[in-house]
Amino acid sequence: MEVLIYPTYEAMSAAAAEEIARIVRAKPDAVLGLATGSTPLGLYAELIRMHTEQGLDFSKATSFNLDEYVGLRPDHDQSYRYFMNENLFKHINIPAERTHVPDGMADDPVAACAEYERMIADAGGIDVQILGIGSDGHIAFNEPGSSLASRTRVKTLAKQTIEDNARFFETIDDVPVYAITMGVGTILEARQLILLANKASKAGPVAAAIEGPVTSMNTASALQLHPHATAYLDSAAAEKLKMRAYYDWIQTKKPGAPTSR
Ligand code: PGA
Repeated sequence: MEVLIYPTYEAMSAAAAEEIARIVRAKPDAVLGLATGSTPLGLYAELIRMHTEQGLDFSKATSFNLDEYVGLRPDHDQSYRYFMNENLFKHINIPAERTHVPDGMADDPVAACAEYERMIADAGGIDVQILGIGSDGHIAFNEPGSSLASRTRVKTLAKQTIEDNARFFETIDDVPVYAITMGVGTILEARQLILLANKASKAGPVAAAIEGPVTSMNTASALQLHPHATAYLDSAAAEKLKMRAYYDWIQTKKPGAPTSR
């Protein structure tokens, strides 16, 4: 896994946004895998800025989000559909009908999961998937113990995740217990993965994901199995990495490395 460490959250977000912009410029009809949470907000703000100031064009792009709470309507202010509309979609020119978030209100959630997988396949697969990491090492809602071969499905949230997310709800009892989430296997099929992490509270799960064994106890560690995965970290989230000096060394030497171009 490539590990890129930046001094600040802003620098981390700008670098990841630059990579997404590069992909969208090279392939205007790119299929973008998107994530919610506080971590990607800086990246989305930067994409909005690039769209507004530089005309970065999303008019041919398609998107698929990782997950959605079961039981929250799309207009609920804590639904992930609402989050994406507010924090990205309404500020760029991606056609609304090509933005996909799992349907947390589906009458048949199991069928909705299979349908979501089919829609991703029909779109040609995901070109680049953005990921955050939970304090328990989850990617999307793939909590510890999730099969590394899992597909989109209904998942019961871990108590830790419910506690982490309670800050967004009036009481902890309002946090949904179930979610529809892409599986680890679904995520690993994206052609490129971008893991974002900032803050010292993520340093433990980040170190386990990057330098620990591949294990379903930290589903982000499955990124080690992917041929094109990059972790974008701020220095606080990188502080428990044992090989930090090595990652910094690689980053300084990369511009001079031989390439095929
Ligand atoms: P956060 O959540 O970005 O709000 O820290 C990340 C996650 O739980 O995946």
